[in-house]
Amino acid sequence: MRSLVVFYTKSGNTGLVAHTIKRELKTHIKEITDYTHYRSIFDYLFTSLIDSASINPRKLDINYYDTIFIGTPVWLGSMTPAIKKIIDNTDFKNKNIILFNTMKIGGHENAMKKMVKLIEKQNGKVVGAFSIRTNCSDLEIMARTRKALHDLNLT
Ligand SMILES: Cc1cc2nc3c(=O)[nH]c(=O)nc-3n(C[C@H](O)[C@H](O)[C@H](O)COP(=O)(O)O)c2cc1C
Repeated sequence: MRSLVVFYTKSGNTGLVAHTIKRELKTHIKEITDYTHYRSIFDYLFTSLIDSASINPRKLDINYYDTIFIGTPVWLGSMTPAIKKIIDNTDFKNKNIILFNTMKIGGHENAMKKMVKLIEKQNGKVVGAFSIRTNCSDLEIMARTRKALHDLNLT
């Protein structure tokens, strides 16, 4: 499996999950940076709505890979503007996609549904998905990630 983990993280939790996947499955990894200046939650909503997040890289170079993990924190019951933008900018034709998100309380199922829809619009095939609750220690986040990979028969 030639795999890439693509993720956005603000406070580190999704990054921890992404790096745990990398370590467990020996994947490549790519962090998406968002340079947008967010002053309030309205900015998150508006940026997502008009798809104006200022991200780096702008587009994914995924030719080499057959499987791509895409991870985001749940923000207001949705994916982050950065991940929405990178998916919008990429054609996932003939790629298997595994989605993951992290959250404290809920909204992950709705966020996941929106991500699946967006990936399918971009010609990708979602073959797995998992959510990690991050109301716990880093060690527990890593353990929950390993369990999720095991449950998907990836380890
Ligand atoms: C703007 C914002 C909105 C959030 N919305 C939700 C939410 O709808 N549901 C939830 O359970 N957690 C929510 N959270 C908490 C994050 O999803 C959670 O802490 C996540 O693990 C953070 O990931 P990160 O450390 O990779 O940035 C929100 C956090 C932020 C900053």
